[in-house]
Amino acid sequence: MFLRQSLVRWVVPLLGGFGLLVQADVDVPAAALAAAESGSVTKMDFGKTPDGTPVDLYVLKNGNLTAKVMTYGAIITEIDAPDRNGKLGDVVLGFDSLEGYLGKHPYFGATVGRVANRVAKGKFTLGGREYTLATNNGPNSLHGGIKGFDKVVWKAEPTSQAGGTSVKLTYTSPDGEEGYPGNLSASVTFTVTDRDELKIEYSATTDKATPINLSNHSYFNLAGRTTESILGHELMLAADRYTPVDDTLIPTGEIAPVAGTPLDFTKPTDIGARIKEIKADPVGYDHNFVLNGGGKSLALAARVYEPKTGRLLEMSTTEPGVQFYTGNFLDGTITGKDGIVYRQYQGFCLEAQHFPDSINHPSFPSAVLEPGKTYTQTTIYKFSAR
Ligand code: BGC
Repeated sequence: MFLRQSLVRWVVPLLGGFGLLVQADVDVPAAALAAAESGSVTKMDFGKTPDGTPVDLYVLKNGNLTAKVMTYGAIITEIDAPDRNGKLGDVVLGFDSLEGYLGKHPYFGATVGRVANRVAKGKFTLGGREYTLATNNGPNSLHGGIKGFDKVVWKAEPTSQAGGTSVKLTYTSPDGEEGYPGNLSASVTFTVTDRDELKIEYSATTDKATPINLSNHSYFNLAGRTTESILGHELMLAADRYTPVDDTLIPTGEIAPVAGTPLDFTKPTDIGARIKEIKADPVGYDHNFVLNGGGKSLALAARVYEPKTGRLLEMSTTEPGVQFYTGNFLDGTITGKDGIVYRQYQGFCLEAQHFPDSINHPSFPSAVLEPGKTYTQTTIYKFSAR
């Protein structure tokens, strides 16, 4: 089988300088694609949205890592990482084709925004004006509202970056979209580096003050495509504190220590070891951890180890918080890649973010972007095996 596509080849930079992008339309055998060269970006057709908008998939390959990102929702559809024997496995949940992503699903791999996580009752006041957002999660607004950044088609261009192969996705969110103020120009650059990292860099500007909190909602299972849960993965979180929530998952405003609770992952602990002690319905982790790094510069946030395959994921971020979510709401109603039925605890998310409902909590780090300023966020997922 041959696929008509645009092949963009990244010529590996010499002496650490910038490389050269060469683009040509060619017929590429599907099998050859799987074996695409290290240091390459390959663009493929991935179907069309119901209104006929074409969706492209970008395959970023470098070192031992391959990541696939599509223009619909700026969604990461696949990350292939080696186990301790060098065997590649796809470590994120999702679907085999666009159709699955167009249906109802809990943000698999998605770029979430304009505001990731919850805004209480979808209301906030900014510059003396009250704003009302689209609510889509009980009384609250979750992950940008009804049609968030995960459900729009982004523009894409391969970009050059020393030591990595990248694609930059851009989206302009109009003033008033989902209730948010200001025209917001957002970009997300995905880079697979030659150090086996998937680096995600966000940037945005606005023409009116607006809350902003961009994140990625990948569900990881480091064992690869499997029916096994993530309860046997070992987790370390560089967080001594968390933000307790009410029963609609809105922070109470308190910042509490994790010590003495099942949320203490300051030392590596199996995710499943104390999960049943969590008082929540459904039971599981769905908490914002306050990172010790403080959100000022890139700092290690989490380390996750899967003992059977030896895969290790290390996450660093510039954000002050991370939502650790164990897929509590997965209930067997979604069938994903390879026909695997996604059940509770099938994957975990580490969503780098400002704290939930920051806009209504002046004591939390501010998530407001003013005109003339640039919002930035960098999160790196580094893969290795031992
Ligand atoms: C939230 C969960 C939610 C999930 C999927 C997470 O970020 O914290 O409560 O169910 O996203 O929507």
